[in-house]
Parts: sequence; structure tokens; C-alpha cells
Amino acid sequence: MKTVLGIETTCDETAAAVVSVDPDGMPQIRSNEVLSQIAEHAVYGGVVPEIAARAHVEVLDRLVARALERAGTSLADLDGIAVAAGPGLIGGVLVGLVTAKTLSLVANKPLLAVNHLEAHALTARLTDGLDFPYLLLLASGGHTQLVAVRGVGDYVRLGGTIDDAIGEAFDKAAKLLGLGYPGGPAVERMAEDGDPERFALPRPMLGRRTADFSLSGLKTALRIEAERIAPLAERDVADLCAGFQAAVVDVVIDRARVALRGFSDVAGRPTALVAAGGVAANGAIRRALAALAGEAGLAFVAPPLALCGDNGAMIAWAGLERLRLGLVDDLTAPARPRWSLAVESAPVTAA
Ligand code: KG4
Ligand code: ZN
Repeated sequence: MKTVLGIETTCDETAAAVVSVDPDGMPQIRSNEVLSQIAEHAVYGGVVPEIAARAHVEVLDRLVARALERAGTSLADLDGIAVAAGPGLIGGVLVGLVTAKTLSLVANKPLLAVNHLEAHALTARLTDGLDFPYLLLLASGGHTQLVAVRGVGDYVRLGGTIDDAIGEAFDKAAKLLGLGYPGGPAVERMAEDGDPERFALPRPMLGRRTADFSLSGLKTALRIEAERIAPLAERDVADLCAGFQAAVVDVVIDRARVALRGFSDVAGRPTALVAAGGVAANGAIRRALAALAGEAGLAFVAPPLALCGDNGAMIAWAGLERLRLGLVDDLTAPARPRWSLAVESAPVTAA
């Protein structure tokens, strides 16, 4: 059995987890500790990097101790220390990376410097034992891309956003409508009681032959509608949220359909359609993607809610995947504020 500690500090979640994998390859999440900083950032309406870094410093050592304790293990029993070395807010990344390097040095265990996006991308293998290749929609507050996942470290980018990330669009919509931060869950909750057809919002890029996204126009259209009918009653906010979410769903499905068409050129037949990243928590997006996968005769896999947002288990798992392949790092591993997932880009252009 192999056991790895995973540390995540790239944004506003401090997380530590222990994941083991038995000789048959069956993974087990033995602990998964997440401390959200949402309360610290909420007053500013978004994540403040300096506050995030300090908050990580204050809690990370205790969180790691708790993750080891809850897993019933100790540093000495680990086979590796995995950490998200980027991409993300550099202050936070440094806190996690320096902590992991120190633990690696003291306990004499291999360091596994993991790409945060790769950890999201591989989560479906932790939760569902999925085989490669699969089509991934990776959508969070900072990223939106459609990727052919061919293997560990082997990703082809089929399309992505040319402006806002989907999570960012949800966050901006929420801010505009006075719903606070983070916006995704708040907009989804309000949308439940709203009429998605009251406002005619645009579906940017719909029908385009590339698998790219553009969301800033939708956000502007939402603002114009909101300003037009201000002051907003609760019903107005619900209808605006429902309209916004319905537009995003239509765009996501149209873009994913194009990416599915382009997938076979770079990776053959996919085993599944996978959603990952914080936005994968959205029920409407999940349901629509599941329907699209069904249409294409594919399985649909999205991590359980607790593993959609940032967490340590996905970092530990990505570390285990890399350890298995001998992809080990040393103390020179850099913190990378920018670190793209795709080694290759193959924009879809097929009709
Ligand atoms: O992956 P994640 O936890 O952190 C990043 O790496 O960004 O994703 C957070 C993002 C935020 O923008 C948040 O608003 C969005 O995911 N999000 C959602 C939902 N839950 C979280 N977006 C839409 N619907 C949701 N239910
Ligand atoms: Zn993330």
C-alpha cells in the first residue's frame, strides 16, 4: 500500500488530506481536512491574496497534523508529500510548497510537486476509477477549458475561455446582484425559484466551430438588464439568476459538443465525459452534461460535491499517480503562479 499526504493552498482554501492506494490500485481517502477562508474574504467581495497567504500560514501546520491523526498515520509512514505548486496566488502557493519541502526534508520522503489543475483533472480516477482517455470540462474561478485527458501529464487543450472563467462569471454576476462571495452557489440557489425565460440573455459563441468560450458579454448583458429594471426585487434577482445560469448551461453544452467532435482526432474514443473544478458543483450544469454524455453514449462523471472545490485529497491522489510513474520532485521545485495544464493545444475547428 502507498500513502501520500496532499497539501493545497493555491487560493482561499487551506487543505490537507491523506490518501492511500492498495496494491490493486484501489484508492482510499483516509482524511480530507479543508478550512475555507470565505469569511475572511467575504467583506471584500473576493479573495485578497495577502490575507489568503497569512491565513494559510496560521492554520496549515495544525491542519496537516489533524489530517495525519484522522487518517491514523504519521509522517514516518508516508510514501510521499504532495503539494499544489501552482497555478495560483503566489503567496499561498509558497506557504504550501515550503511546508511540504520542510516535511519532505525532515521525514526524508519524496516531494511531489503537483499542478493544481492536473489534480482537478485526475479526481475522476480517484472517485470512479476511470480509464484514459476522457473529455474533461475543467471549470473553476480561474480556469475554463475543455481538455482531452490522455494520461498523467498528457493533456491536449481543445478549447477554453477567451475572457472570463465560468466561476468568475458566476462570481461577478453574484456581486452585481448583491449576492456576496462566492457567487456560484448563491446564484444557483436563487435560480431555483427564478424564471429563466423572463430575460433574453445572449449565448456567446453558440454554434461556433471552435470549442472556445466567451462569457464577458453575457455578464455585461446581465448588468444592462439589471440596471434597466432597478431597483431589484427578490423576484427580479431570482429571474436574472435563472436566466444567467440557463445561458451558461446552453453555452457549456454547445462548447462541449464541439469538443466531443474534435476529441477523436487527438485521443480516440473517450471513456467518459468528466466535469471538474468548483463549477462542477452546479446542479444545472451537471444535469445538462449528463444528458449530453447520454446522447453520445458516454458515461458522465463528476466528483461528489466535497471533491469539486479545492481539497487536499485531489492533490494527494495526483501525487500518488505521479509517484507510481516515478515522477518525483526535489527541493528545487519552483512555485508557479502560472502553470498551464496542456502540453499540447489542438483547437477544434471541425464542423
Ligand atoms: O475549484 P475552485 O474551488 O477554486 C478555484 O480553483 O477557482 O472553484 C471555485 C469557483 C468559484 O468561482 C465559485 O463561484 C464556483 O467555483 N462555484 C460554482 C458553484 N460552486 C462553486 N459555480 C457555479 N455553481 C456552483 N454551484
Ligand atoms: Zn481549483
